[in-house]
Amino acid sequence: MRVFTDKRAMRAWSRSERAAGRRVALVPTMGSLHAGHLSLVDVARRHADTVVVSIYVNPTQFDRADDLHAYPRELDADLARLGGAADAIFAPHDMYFRGEPPHETWVEAESLTQTLCGAARPGHFRGVTTVVAKFFHVVEPDVAVFGDKDYQQRRVIERMVRDLDFPIEIVAAPLVRDADGLALSSRNARLSPDARTQALSISRALFAARDAVADGATDAIAVAADARARVEVAGGRVDYVELVDDATLRPIAHLDRPAVLAIAAYFGGVRLIDNIRLS
Ligand code: PAJ
Repeated sequence: MRVFTDKRAMRAWSRSERAAGRRVALVPTMGSLHAGHLSLVDVARRHADTVVVSIYVNPTQFDRADDLHAYPRELDADLARLGGAADAIFAPHDMYFRGEPPHETWVEAESLTQTLCGAARPGHFRGVTTVVAKFFHVVEPDVAVFGDKDYQQRRVIERMVRDLDFPIEIVAAPLVRDADGLALSSRNARLSPDARTQALSISRALFAARDAVADGATDAIAVAADARARVEVAGGRVDYVELVDDATLRPIAHLDRPAVLAIAAYFGGVRLIDNIRLS
């Protein structure tokens, strides 16, 4: 497994792989890898011959300095966790030009970022789309894999690729949960045992909504209100609980089309997100 920190060396190697007839996949991550990330690597392997995993905690997508500083960084452990599952790691020290005049060019998906995490975290998706566009230019992959844990992010990246003509296939990977239902996240490591137990209310609320819809519920506002109440009763500080159209990500009132119930809530100061498809 090769480890690149230099953009030009990364691009040269990726180009040599493609020149040798190999299809290259990129799995962008911020590290602290867990089974959710590793499942993306498996999906990438099924779509390509060469798999590159990028590991970079992107400062421009954090809306709070304390969250950025608390974000775990553990490159050596990540290399061990990958255990050769990827062919190359791209772990740049920095992705942005740091001289004068400074970096000032941004990529922004406008309408898709007005709800959910886009509304709750100003500037977050501008940072995500900009850094992912940069990764695409450095690695030049044929395919890139994104997890449905970050459903809005996956939709935003698909829109960016369409709108800006990136010749890259975006593959969605299913959300991976712990045995008890908690969505795997690098942030889970910061939960106290009590907060972790309380946080199970998120996935339980999502499963209850799925069951209610299976039993015939069609009132999206009532379904979302019930989910919110379950998270709040457990002690969560809700950022949002929204039932949205799965393509536009706009709130809906009636469950008459494919939809996603998305939740963001704080437990013990840790912000967690999760979602489920409802149809
Ligand atoms: P990060 O949070 O590290 O996630 C990297 C990828 O792993 C994303 O596509 C995310 O959806 C996926 N992922 C995380 N937890 C998952 C789970 N439990 N099940 C399935 N997939 C999961 O998302 C980012 O980093 C950044 O925003 C990034 C795209 C790298 C840009 O900086």
